[in-house]
Amino acid sequence: MKEEIYSKNTAKSVAPANLENYEKAASSFTWKQARSYVDWFNGGKINAAYNAVDRHTQTWRKNKVALYWEDEAGNDKKFTFEELSLLSNKVANILKDFGVERGDRVFLFLPRIPELYFSFLGILKIGAIAGTLFSAFQEQALADRLENSGAKVLITTKELKPRVDAIRKKLPDLVHVLVVDDEYFTKSLERASDTLRIAHMDPDDYAFMLYTSGTTGKPKGVVHSHRAILQEHMTAYWVLDLRDDDTYWCTADPGWVTGIAYEILGSWSNGVAAIVYAGRFNPDRWYKLLDKYNVTVWYTAPTAIRMLMAPGNELVKKHNLSHLRHLCSVGEPLNPEAIKWGIKVFGLAFHDTWWQTETGAICIANYPCMDIKIGSMGKPIPGLTAAIVDDEGHVVGTNQEGNIALKPKWPSLMRTIWRRPIKYKSYFMNGWYITGDRGMVDKDGYFWFIGRADDVIKTSGERVGPFEVESALVEHPSVVEAGVIGKPDPMRGEIIKAFVVLEASQKSKVKSQKFADALKEELAMYVKKHLAGHAYPREIEFIDKLPKTRSGKIMRRILKAKEMGLPVGDTSTLEEF
Ligand code: WT7
Repeated sequence: MKEEIYSKNTAKSVAPANLENYEKAASSFTWKQARSYVDWFNGGKINAAYNAVDRHTQTWRKNKVALYWEDEAGNDKKFTFEELSLLSNKVANILKDFGVERGDRVFLFLPRIPELYFSFLGILKIGAIAGTLFSAFQEQALADRLENSGAKVLITTKELKPRVDAIRKKLPDLVHVLVVDDEYFTKSLERASDTLRIAHMDPDDYAFMLYTSGTTGKPKGVVHSHRAILQEHMTAYWVLDLRDDDTYWCTADPGWVTGIAYEILGSWSNGVAAIVYAGRFNPDRWYKLLDKYNVTVWYTAPTAIRMLMAPGNELVKKHNLSHLRHLCSVGEPLNPEAIKWGIKVFGLAFHDTWWQTETGAICIANYPCMDIKIGSMGKPIPGLTAAIVDDEGHVVGTNQEGNIALKPKWPSLMRTIWRRPIKYKSYFMNGWYITGDRGMVDKDGYFWFIGRADDVIKTSGERVGPFEVESALVEHPSVVEAGVIGKPDPMRGEIIKAFVVLEASQKSKVKSQKFADALKEELAMYVKKHLAGHAYPREIEFIDKLPKTRSGKIMRRILKAKEMGLPVGDTSTLEEF
């Protein structure tokens, strides 16, 4: 392995990093020490939302801007910590009036508007469980999540509400739908009291949940507790290196755990001023935002970085980005070219961080105080043990490929999979949490990502289960069967590719190229419209028969090998193909 090092000394010199000495912290830190970084109520009780926002209102940060918000049209708003505290109290009181109690699920189906942020906080403040939903979700994706979670209240907008109305009959538990831009809600918000007795929660009480995809079955509801704030706070401090004089931009959507842990909880818990851009990706606009708000710390994703690289370096030079001091990345492999490009155009290296919806916070990372081995994900955070283990859960040697595994528990480890306790148990083996990622660790303790151990697709950083896409495709009358894989793509990491077996009557028709193209377009749109805007197959291939095991399971690994022109490997369990 050829190693290229980005020396920590090359980094822009600012005051010493929050984490000054990784080795020292890694050998001595215990989670007990983190307790003093957050605020507790009597009797060891806590509330993650109180820590994110309300506690700052007792300090000089009361009138500090917490949120600079801007949308695509250029409308902007700003909110101080106190304003967020009061607005979230109001939402909390509205929810209480609707009978929402501790443990009830309240889901947010909202674009990145300010209401999303203070509603999320308000839900946690009364001890209810907040669930987030990407605004790209369509009926099937919404129904799966709202049905399984048994959400009692859904908060949405006029524009998104029809998608919920269409599936409402499938949702007997859903009692109220609040529409933030209708008159009823705006009036209620005006009238609601802004004082609230914040719920004192047990650290293990549930705080929020997110649905994420695996290889098979419907998306799983990953549930996190209030205790997660400890690790979200500490990692925002050590890894993102957030300080009071920073302006911080995390480009993630709260439909994704990154947007919850590092746009709401961990980052605000550190008292930082954050920006939120409620618009689509656009390189020029992104640079304008970095420039306008004098962003200092920036947390983004590899696909976005690659999309910024695409238009060339002239565009970057038009903007003053000299205040940037620390860059981080998450979600998919950060390729060395992207790091080198960052060094060239910003004079800074993107620091890769690794974690998952299930882990609740950053687990493996590169730190400002540590040399980067370009291409490596870095080292486990202080207080957490990571290792590479074989399929029986035994630790393997240096430079040996195996499963990336973490030693339970860490504070932000998911507490359950909603209504699927057996699924939850299946993550653990021989005393390890098995991540589903393959990797290796080198002699210096740096972790290297190799790939997924399963068929889960990562497209533009989004996690997509092949089964969900296959299920959506077979709903279409022309489709008999479908097998879906992630196909490597230079820009998006992977794209979704579907192999489709057509209904007999359609088979002869697709001999016409024109008909075939039209049908592919129709199928892609069909998935977009029923499942989600980002989960549709960008490539479709019609195929006579899918490779299957004798028991009838689709062998996606064979489709993938075929796609990539690789040997198909062991086919002994395969039905005739
Ligand atoms: C999967 C988790 C990451 C927080 C957001 C939610 C992949 C994540 C990296 C990285 C290579 C990465 C893994 C992981 N992944 N970070 N730095 N390098 N791969 O993440 O949607 O739950 O997905 O994302 O495969 O298991 P998620």
